[in-house]
Amino acid sequence: MYILFLVWYCNKKFTMVENNILQFIVRKVDLKTIFNLRHETLRQGLPEHEAIFEGDNEKSTYHFAAYLRDVEGGPSGNVVCCSTFVQNKWEERQAYQLRGMATYIQYQGQGVGKKLLVTAEAMIRHETNIHEFWCNARQSAIGFYEKLGWSIESDIFLLRDEPHVKMYKLVQ
Ligand SMILES: CC(C)(COP(=O)(O)OP(=O)(O)OC[C@H]1O[C@@H](n2cnc3c(N)ncnc32)[C@H](O)[C@@H]1OP(=O)(O)O)[C@@H](O)C(=O)NCCC(=O)NCCS
Repeated sequence: MYILFLVWYCNKKFTMVENNILQFIVRKVDLKTIFNLRHETLRQGLPEHEAIFEGDNEKSTYHFAAYLRDVEGGPSGNVVCCSTFVQNKWEERQAYQLRGMATYIQYQGQGVGKKLLVTAEAMIRHETNIHEFWCNARQSAIGFYEKLGWSIESDIFLLRDEPHVKMYKLVQ
C-alpha cells in the first residue's frame, strides 16, 4: 500500500514539474499571513508600520492569500500573492477599496494575481452584496487591472512619489 502511494505521489509530482504548471489556491486569511509579502513587495526597505493600512483590522476587511498548491491538491505553506479589501465609499456609495495587491517577483506573470483578484471580487460580492470596487493603482500595474475589467477613472496623480490612477470595477 505504502509503495503504491509512493509511486502515485512521485508520478504526480514529476508530472507537475515536467509540465511546468504552477497551481494556486486562494484563501481568506488574517493580516499576519500576508504581512511579510506586502511589506517586502510594496514597502521594501521601509519600516514595518509603513505597510499597515488604515482599516486593516476592521471586521469588514478582507485579506486574501494565494498559496502554491501542493501535490495532494491542498495549500502549501508558501504564500505567493496577496491583497486586502477595505470597505470604503466610491462616490458616496458603499464599495470596497483594493489595497496591497502583490505577487512575489519570482511568481509574477504566471496567473496567480488574476486568480486571486477574480476569486476575491466574487467572494466579497457574494458575501456582502457590495458590487463596486476601486483602487489607487500604480501606473506600472494599470495593464494588469485593465485585463481584469477595471477602468481608469482619474488623471495620473502622485502617491508616495509614485504615479497612480484611480481605477474602478463593477462586479455583477
Ligand atoms: C501587478 C501584480 C500584482 C500582477 O500580479 P501577477 O501575479 O504577476 O499577475 P498575473 O500573472 O495574474 O497577470 C494576469 C494578466 O495581467 C498581465 N499583467 C500582469 N502584470 C501586468 C502589468 N504590470 N502590466 C500589464 N499587464 C500585466 C499578465 O501578462 C496577464 O495577462 P494574460 O492574462 O493575458 O496572460 C504583480 O506584477 C506585482 O506584484 N507587481 C509589483 C507590486 C505592484 O505593483 N502591485 C500593484 C500595486 S497597485
